[in-house]
Amino acid sequence: MEECYLCYEVGALAQGLRAPASHAGGRWFESITPHLRRVVVLGGSGSIGQQTLSLLSTFSQEYRLVGVSVHRQLEKVYPWIERLHPEWIAVTDEEGLHSARTTYPHLPLIDQSALYEKLATERIDIVVNGIVGSAGFWASWYALQNPAAQLALANKESLVFGGKWLEPFRNRIIPVDSEHSALFQCLIGEPPESIEKLILTASGGPFRGKKAGELAEITPAQALAHPVWRMGARITVDSATLMNKALELIEAHWLFGLSAEQIEVWVHPQCIVHSMVLFRDGAMKAQLSSPDMRLPILYALSYPRRLAFSEGRWQPFLNGHTLSFEPVDEETFPTLGYAREALRRGGAAPALLNAADEVAVEAFLEGRIGFLDIFRWLEWSLVQPETLTSPSSPQELEALEKDFRQKVRSHFLGV
Ligand SMILES: NC(=O)c1ccc[n+]([C@@H]2O[C@H](COP(=O)([O-])OP(=O)(O)OC[C@H]3O[C@@H](n4cnc5c(N)ncnc54)[C@H](OP(=O)(O)O)[C@@H]3O)[C@@H](O)[C@H]2O)c1
Repeated sequence: MEECYLCYEVGALAQGLRAPASHAGGRWFESITPHLRRVVVLGGSGSIGQQTLSLLSTFSQEYRLVGVSVHRQLEKVYPWIERLHPEWIAVTDEEGLHSARTTYPHLPLIDQSALYEKLATERIDIVVNGIVGSAGFWASWYALQNPAAQLALANKESLVFGGKWLEPFRNRIIPVDSEHSALFQCLIGEPPESIEKLILTASGGPFRGKKAGELAEITPAQALAHPVWRMGARITVDSATLMNKALELIEAHWLFGLSAEQIEVWVHPQCIVHSMVLFRDGAMKAQLSSPDMRLPILYALSYPRRLAFSEGRWQPFLNGHTLSFEPVDEETFPTLGYAREALRRGGAAPALLNAADEVAVEAFLEGRIGFLDIFRWLEWSLVQPETLTSPSSPQELEALEKDFRQKVRSHFLGV
């Protein structure tokens, strides 16, 4: 591993996700001249990926784009390739790679296995994982095999699928999900034993306040119209069912090492308070900002520094804004209960719950099932005997998960 004072210090700071008191205020940091940090962006064609690439372009004095991945949609990153000149571009879908090689013969294109090798062995400072779904696990896994790399993790499914295997590396994981970034920021300098509860905030999604009877006829277009965030299709539908928050509860469990009982969810429709921590002395810390994913992405890129960024500012209480909080209607949106049950079962349960959700959301978006069927599929999935198994390796879990997806499809769709 190449010696790097900055990376060493960042690694030290990330120990236990807490900054030692001697580093408070960042005074030590002023003496360091940071080098151009080498960044890889995974899922460059997606919502997180595009926002990350735009930040790398804005902060080109700080960061160098080493590589970028897409699954198929190379055209979406092409303008960034021309601007940021990465050393390589991975196209992880085999057919996608074949057609990319025909359309863009001049580009240094690589396949998925070459990508994994580069993640594990190249000189990389930060890997931003913006892949959607449990397919993102292996990229996180290989990035964490690279001792110099930090993982800026948006792909919550990495932890939902394989938290058990990623947990030993959590000192090198900087969360990008806005809620977990908020918790991470609130926990800096706080010893673990002083935490009583984590409070994840939730927008409540587009159907907040509706009852089950009103949800039966919901269309994909309605579910895709999130009131606050502009995101990829899967996470947007998950926000409408609150399954996104369920996955985030599991993500928080692995990131911060707390039990499901210590993680609450409060609906906060304004999406200004991104999450909170309740400490054992009764004090609470919250992190606030405008609902703009560039802020947590930038923080994950710059941690423990903060870079000057004038966009995405929130004009707070002076404009008469009010911030409100309410409990989740778990009768109408039962997904948080599924997450708690999956954690209680442990083993393969969280991964299989997520897999069932990925299949259900796809079927819903294709117009094959109704909105409420998603809940029905998830409830059925949770009580299948496979959820009580405990695979001994991610490879074993991956095989089980693949069969389980097929089982869900054939049970509900007959395919
Ligand atoms: N968007 C947000 O604001 C937000 C906020 C917090 C957390 N997150 C999390 O960040 C992740 C990405 O979300 P997103 O909204 O950016 O999703 P998205 O817009 O749908 O983008 C997904 C990305 O993943 C790639 N991809 C899809 N299937 C893949 C596979 N099998 N192997 C490798 N790459 C694959 C896609 O490539 P192609 O386009 O080429 O198919 C695309 O680049 C999710 O885990 C989500 O929960 C997102």
